[in-house]
This record gives sequence, C-alpha cells and structure tokens, in this order.
Amino acid sequence: MSIDYKAEIERLKKKLPVTVVGHFYQRDEVFEMADITGDSLELARKCKADKNPWVVFCGVGFMGQSVKVIAPEKRVLMPKIACCAMARMIDGSYFDDSVNYMVERGIPKENILPITYINSDATVKAKVGEMGGMVCTSSNAYKIIEKGLESGKKILFVPDRCLGQNFANSMGLKSCVIGQGECDPKEADVICFDGFCSVHQLFTLDDIEFYRNKFPEIKIAVHPECDPKIVEASDFAGSTSQLIKYVNELDPNQKVAVGTEYNLVNRMRKGNTYVLSSTKPECPTMNETTLEDLYLTLKSIEDEKPINEIVVAPDTIKYANLALERMLAIV
Ligand code: 13P
Ligand code: SF4
Repeated sequence: MSIDYKAEIERLKKKLPVTVVGHFYQRDEVFEMADITGDSLELARKCKADKNPWVVFCGVGFMGQSVKVIAPEKRVLMPKIACCAMARMIDGSYFDDSVNYMVERGIPKENILPITYINSDATVKAKVGEMGGMVCTSSNAYKIIEKGLESGKKILFVPDRCLGQNFANSMGLKSCVIGQGECDPKEADVICFDGFCSVHQLFTLDDIEFYRNKFPEIKIAVHPECDPKIVEASDFAGSTSQLIKYVNELDPNQKVAVGTEYNLVNRMRKGNTYVLSSTKPECPTMNETTLEDLYLTLKSIEDEKPINEIVVAPDTIKYANLALERMLAIV
C-alpha cells in the first residue's frame, strides 16, 4: 500500500510540537508543506522566535546548523543533510590561511575584521565570532559591511568572492580576491576568499544580451552571488526575498528575466517572468530533499527515534552564536 505523503505530513504536523521550515529553493511539493518560508535571514529570525521545541529544516546544512546555533535548546532535524557547495569551499584551516595571508602582507590580526556569509559551516562562523566578526546574508551584507568598516579594520570576507566584490562595488570600496592576481590587503578595503556558488555562475553576459535583444524593455534581476560583471549588467540585484518583492512590484506587463535558482524563478512565473539561463539553474543539494524524506523525518519524531539530527559542539555554538547575534542585532 502506498503512503499519501502529504496527508501523513499534515497529520504529523498537527500531532507533534514541530515546525517545518523551507527555503525558497526547495522543490514546490516540499516548499508547500513548510510552516515557515523565507530567505536565509528571515528563516534565522523566524526560527529563533518560533516556540516549538522541534524544527524540521528543508534546506542545506548551514541553515539547519544556524538554527541550532541561535537556539541550542531546539532539536533540529534535516530531511537531507545536504551541504551547500559554496559552504564546502572553506573550513577552519582555509580561514586561518586567509587570516595569515593578510598578516604576512602587513595587516596585524587585530586589524582584521572577518565577515562570513551565512553560507558557511558553523566552525567557520565560530572562528569569525572569536575574532570579533559577524555573519551576513545576501539581504543585509551592505549594512553589515558598513558596520564593520566603522571599526577602521580591514574586512576579510568569506567564502563568496562574488558577494564580497558586489557589495564592495556598490559601496564604492576597493576589493580583491586572495589567489586572483595581485591581492594586496594594504590596497583594498574588502579582501575576499575565492569561493563561489556554481549555480549562480551559470548566468552569463550572453544570457543577458539574448534577453535584451529579444525584449529591449526587459528588466534583468539577479542574486548577488552572480559574478560582478553580471550584477553590473543587471537592473536589480537582491536576496531571494528581495527578488520576489522586486518581481511582484513590477507592472504585470513588464517582462523580467531572473538569475537565481530554478525552483524559485519557476514559482514566480506569471507569464512575463523568464529564467535567465540557457542551462536550467538547479541547486543540486537544495533539490535533494523529497516529500518522502520530509515524511520519514517527521515520522522519526513520532516514533521517538529522531533521524538526521544537527549536532554542533558547545564551543562552536558559543562563538558562532556571537557572530550570528552580532548580525541579528544590526538588521
Ligand atoms: P538567500 O539568503 O537569498 O535566501 O540565499 C541563500 C542562497 O543559498 C542563495 O544561493
Ligand atoms: Fe549553496 Fe549555491 Fe545552492 Fe545557494 S544555490 S545553497 S549558494 S550551492
């Protein structure tokens, strides 16, 4: 006999003290089951305020970890502990190497303020927190970098070089990327680690040219994880929530091509919204979570044998929490 996953998920959600959380990039059928949805910043905030002791997080690993760091008393399960490919590009030792790179080029450690994009492991956030640094997301990076600069220190931005460069550009700051050409920390305000999101690298200038030729009045809206030359050639750049707001506020007849993950753009589509890529921009790890996984995870709580629980070491929680709370105190 086959299981009606949707009906079972609804039953379990009614019975258990659990909140199901879903990022915008989740498959539609999973996303529809979520009690809380949003971009990374909204999810962190909403989970912190939520009262249920159990969280089932449909997203990628760093998101579930962030809930555990902000609210350690909660039991956080993930239907799939899928790791964001960008977050995987940096660990504690790469972080230390980046700090050493700057120290070796004449910037004392106490003059470095690290900022990590939320798309990073809790151990990296902990290192950042221990050095007095902060977390940022794609929706608040401008304010966090602005705040960081008030310290008079050099900003070490990890792991996304695109986000770091895009916000530095929009603020009129000088940036460089460690390992790319001459990156002299003395000459730059924002020194970026060389990480990136492979999904957002799919969007090209050719894609933009194609749409602008086809529909001269079209607007191009992209996520700031795209390459700086793509952001530069676009009409708008913003986090997933900001992209949704931008598209919703356009005149219904205004055509727009959006450069971010496929599931979100497909959900936005109302006739005049296009996916800005000739290749389907799917995030493989976000797409790993299925309805069956969500059902099995909720069922494991009912059966008192929880699966895929997020565990973060107490010391990591302590320092990563500092970095996250510093962000939440600003925006
Ligand atoms: P948002 O913070 O905009 O939700 O982005 C998360 C992400 O992983 C984008 O690739
Ligand atoms: Fe990570 Fe990119 Fe997927 Fe976002 S789209 S979760 S940055 S791999």
